[in-house]
Amino acid sequence: MGRDLPWRIRPPARGAEKPDPYKVWLSEIMLQQTTVAAVGPYYGKFLKAWPSVENLGKASEEDVLHAWAGLGYYARGRNLLKCARIIAKIFGGEFPRTEKELKTLPGIGDYTAAAIAAIAFGEKATVVDGNVERVTSRLYAIATPLPKSKARIKKEVARWVPASRPGDFAQAMMDLGATICLARNPRCLSCPLKEVCMARAKGTAESYP
Ligand code: ADE
Repeated sequence: MGRDLPWRIRPPARGAEKPDPYKVWLSEIMLQQTTVAAVGPYYGKFLKAWPSVENLGKASEEDVLHAWAGLGYYARGRNLLKCARIIAKIFGGEFPRTEKELKTLPGIGDYTAAAIAAIAFGEKATVVDGNVERVTSRLYAIATPLPKSKARIKKEVARWVPASRPGDFAQAMMDLGATICLARNPRCLSCPLKEVCMARAKGTAESYP
């Protein structure tokens, strides 16, 4: 079972409730270079102070950076506010749905654009972060080291992305990397993909990527 994270909506609630793109965006920006455990309290604090992207767009940079203090990488906090202002003013408060449009916004790169498109909008985007790179390198026993193997990894992941619930697929891959397919001492016996993992078949999971 996947992790219960504050920004996720689990079935059956999800039948009625759609993911809020603002919450998905906020959590993904915070999670860049920061762990899920560290992000939790900040995510709650931001939503309480600024419940919508319009609210956040009206905040002062001083207030936002003050609330951001401790998360590190202040450029992310600054871009967060810039992005909120653009969404509020130019996009009428609605996040764009496609990776291409999302990538035009400050602070949103390849990974974050794909994550928002898949998780918030159900677009069939290929989401690859460090965890997914490790899982995939092992599944296919990709001997080429990163970053050279990035294109191959993306191609392999893309073949698996389902048309239905691509956001759940993306988050399941991330959870697998964060809880089972660990960089050191991977818990292969608990892995749902153990039967098809080429690195495990060779007994060398830890040597990938
Ligand atoms: N890391 C970054 N975004 C995540 C998400 N949505 N689920 C799990 N881990 C993540």
